[in-house]
Amino acid sequence: MHDYLLGIESLSKSFSGIKVLDNVHLQVRSGTVHSLMGENGAGKSTMMKCLFGIYRQDSGRFFLEGEEFNFIDPKHALENGVSMVHQELNQVTQRTISDNIWLGRYPRKGFFVDEKAMYRASRELFARLGIHLDPNLKLDALSVSQRQMVEIAKAVSYEAKIIVLDEPTSSLTDNEVRMLFDIIRVLRSHGVGIIYISHKMDEIFEVSDEVTVLRDGQYIGTEAIENLDMERIVNMMVGRDLGHRFPPRTNVPGEIHMKVSKITTKYSPIIRDVSFELRRGEILGISGLVGAGRTELVESLFGARTLESGEIYIDGRKINNSTAQKSIGNRFALLTEERRSTGLYPVADITFNSTIANVKSYRGAIGLLDDKSMTRDTETQIDNMRIKTPSYKEQIRDLSGGNQQKVIIGRWLLTDPDILLLDEPTRGIDVGAKFEIYQLIINLAREGKSVIMVSSEMPELIGITNRIMVMSNGRMAGIVETEKTNQTEIFNLAMKYLINSTEAEI
Ligand SMILES: Nc1ncnc2c1ncn2[C@@H]1O[C@H](COP(=O)(O)OP(=O)(O)OP(=O)(O)O)[C@@H](O)[C@H]1O
Ligand SMILES: [Mg+2]
Repeated sequence: MHDYLLGIESLSKSFSGIKVLDNVHLQVRSGTVHSLMGENGAGKSTMMKCLFGIYRQDSGRFFLEGEEFNFIDPKHALENGVSMVHQELNQVTQRTISDNIWLGRYPRKGFFVDEKAMYRASRELFARLGIHLDPNLKLDALSVSQRQMVEIAKAVSYEAKIIVLDEPTSSLTDNEVRMLFDIIRVLRSHGVGIIYISHKMDEIFEVSDEVTVLRDGQYIGTEAIENLDMERIVNMMVGRDLGHRFPPRTNVPGEIHMKVSKITTKYSPIIRDVSFELRRGEILGISGLVGAGRTELVESLFGARTLESGEIYIDGRKINNSTAQKSIGNRFALLTEERRSTGLYPVADITFNSTIANVKSYRGAIGLLDDKSMTRDTETQIDNMRIKTPSYKEQIRDLSGGNQQKVIIGRWLLTDPDILLLDEPTRGIDVGAKFEIYQLIINLAREGKSVIMVSSEMPELIGITNRIMVMSNGRMAGIVETEKTNQTEIFNLAMKYLINSTEAEI
């Protein structure tokens, strides 16, 4: 009898001859949170998919409470006490929340699905987890973060002994993250073993009991969280000390590039009377609490939201960004926050996904696409962003989650934009690759491009921006010089227009 709940021993897995897991192991104790860490493409999701019966391993053994098992598919895993929240949301958005939770195991009354029992069960589940959603709502009416909460509720509903959470917080609001951590603590106190995957260091230190690190498909080690600090984890992940977290800010903001005058959006959530100036070669950060209108602001600038009033000037000339097409023509690019659900063409290859936003520029005189230059540009992106892939021909759905993100960031950089709007550009990206992306952003600013970057990671805003604009309740609360500000000042600005401070989601 083993003294742990779950054991994974000597697991190996290759895809078309390339080894992505090489003899790795993991032991999870009952009533603990075990974090699985590693750079993008290290093999974390693949390891969990082998456990869950999605992939068949080449070799390796699994034990649950001392009994050897090998799940043939996810249904089999769920029936035997292992459930999983996937990195990619995989839901039927035309169906209701309830349908999605109970899919394949509906409560029945004779031949019929017992809708009432299903509704009741969903309500009970949500009450237990502190989720305030009507189970009869269709999924496509929900925000990505609400959909992620539904997935978490579903995983919990199986009353599993082992729950795998693969980047569960990637789109959650701070409040929802708090709720998830409360749920995790309750599950842990009931003896559930939780495998937690995340690139957010603060979360790792908050929830983990133990940490296992993979690097390039190899097992590096397992440590109790008390014996670890951030440097040590990064060293295990990357294989060396990373040194500085941020590259030097070598860009020098010049003359005024864009002037935004009193923009107000037509539909809610409302952006009201926002005015500011952006210098050429400047990196302007946007901070604020969840719901303050950060995403809405960049979407308005890009023409993805209708303006009620207000003007945008480029180099003193008034422009009209009323549609995305027009703003691409005005050399704007927008990297959306929900890029994985809205920006990917999963069954196409990397080249297609990299060049799609820019496809016109590859058309020759007679309208044929210039394959060679598309390939060349794609390969440059793969190098620049260190995208982990065997070749540019790989289908994007076969890349790890973080590497898919990098392809989409690269896509917008290829459009040769003059003004880059980046919404949470480093979400889901590992610590090493974050540095590369910061460097790319600073290089672009050095070349005279202007960057607006929304981020909920304060250190990152302070690390690479020149100024930070703080949004509060749809309005601009102030702009501060990054070198002269601090977190308290930014926080106070973020609270400025809140009618009632208890509404703040912190
Ligand atoms: N179905 C597949 N076909 C081919 N290669 C794959 C497939 N799934 C994963 N890979 C490759 O296996 C490697 C490990 O990917 P995996 O998704 O396990 O990484 P990860 O550690 O979860 O990374 P991330 O932090 O980016 O999510 C990657 O190089 C990826 O491209
Ligand atoms: Mg993954």
